[in-house]
Amino acid sequence: MHIHAAVLWEQGQPLSVESAELDAPGPGEVLVEIKAAGVCQSDLHPARGDWPIRTPLVLGHEGAGIVREVGPSVATVRPGDHVVLCWAPACGVCPPCREGRAALCDRAEKTNFRNRLPSGGARLHARDRDVAPFLGTACFADSVVVAEGGAIPVPRDVPFDALATLGCAVLTGVGAVTNAGRVPPGSRVVVIGAGGVGLNVVQGARIAGCEQIIAIDRRPTPLALSQAFGATHSLQASDEVEVAKAVRELTAGRGADFVFDTVGSPATLATALACARKGGAVVLTGLSRADSHGTIAMFPFVMQEKRLIGSVYGSGQPARDIPRLVSLYQEGRLKLSELVSRTYTLDKVNDALTALAAGDGARGVIRW
Ligand SMILES: NC(=O)c1ccc[n+]([C@@H]2O[C@H](COP(=O)([O-])OP(=O)(O)OC[C@H]3O[C@@H](n4cnc5c(N)ncnc54)[C@H](O)[C@@H]3O)[C@@H](O)[C@H]2O)c1
Ligand SMILES: [Zn+2]
Ligand SMILES: [Zn+2]
Repeated sequence: MHIHAAVLWEQGQPLSVESAELDAPGPGEVLVEIKAAGVCQSDLHPARGDWPIRTPLVLGHEGAGIVREVGPSVATVRPGDHVVLCWAPACGVCPPCREGRAALCDRAEKTNFRNRLPSGGARLHARDRDVAPFLGTACFADSVVVAEGGAIPVPRDVPFDALATLGCAVLTGVGAVTNAGRVPPGSRVVVIGAGGVGLNVVQGARIAGCEQIIAIDRRPTPLALSQAFGATHSLQASDEVEVAKAVRELTAGRGADFVFDTVGSPATLATALACARKGGAVVLTGLSRADSHGTIAMFPFVMQEKRLIGSVYGSGQPARDIPRLVSLYQEGRLKLSELVSRTYTLDKVNDALTALAAGDGARGVIRW
């Protein structure tokens, strides 16, 4: 079928919204008409060249839509189902999947994480070339073909704006708290970066019953938003010594039980480690350039028994966790529509990426 898709032909260049050809879904695949797609920093990184990637490619990995066609042997979704896209469809049988760590699935590492469908099929074409689907998802397009496990069915009465950001920012942020940190009620937490992922760490911490939630950002709008999502305090980002001092003052001189670094730069990692109390943990979700290295002052790290935990895609089981997040929304405990601070049409996708780079809001969402 003919669709419009935002193709990245060369890193560092704007996306080109153009006609493309989408094949029918193969065995174990589904065709989804996209209704809303969030724009994540993980789209911006490959677009601007922070992460080396093979082009041409269609970006977009956080979206929701309606199943229009299913390939042979598909059992879990039907045409007409509303779905949230999942960029790490799990095989269910590899060692990490059997351990309940589906976000670390061995198959996803070799397929979706390398911008391929699990089947290996090329379903998207433009200018007579195969175009890779970013994270096996490629939802900056009118329709996508994804693996069956990449389309998680959700109730039909939830608006698409609310569903748009569930499949990355919300799952990553809330899961960092519940699955990676296993943060107990009453904890004192710091969240560095109050953007798409960070605001969801804030609301995850609120849902987990944290006593103090200190949000840190460079810009005023994310800090103001963080209060609406449950932050008890907000701090302007500055150097690591100043921030750690302010956090200690807010936490009876101790430091935070958990610090979430949703930015992931060498500087924010240093700040995160400095803000954690003795025996505290840093959960790192932010990803800056592919070649970044942080440093750790090893002596205090050992003597104060700090912990550093990497967390990808909410560190849990997306197929289980996405429907649970929808239930939390339906119970009024999880804010989703409030995450949408700007909306665009697909042909304005480059404006959405520019606004994201400026970082002054929650999430930009492309709507069809
Ligand atoms: N681990 C995962 O599975 C996963 C999932 C999604 C995104 N990510 C990564 O997480 C990062 C954040 O993504 P996002 O979509 O939330 O981005 P975003 O642009 O929505 O939010 C980033 C926020 O950090 C703030 N910020 C930037 N530098 C800062 C600093 N030095 N100190 C304090 N605040 C600072 C910005 O003002 C902005 O509010 C990106 O690197 C992205 O690639 C990781
Ligand atoms: Zn697996
Ligand atoms: Zn993302």
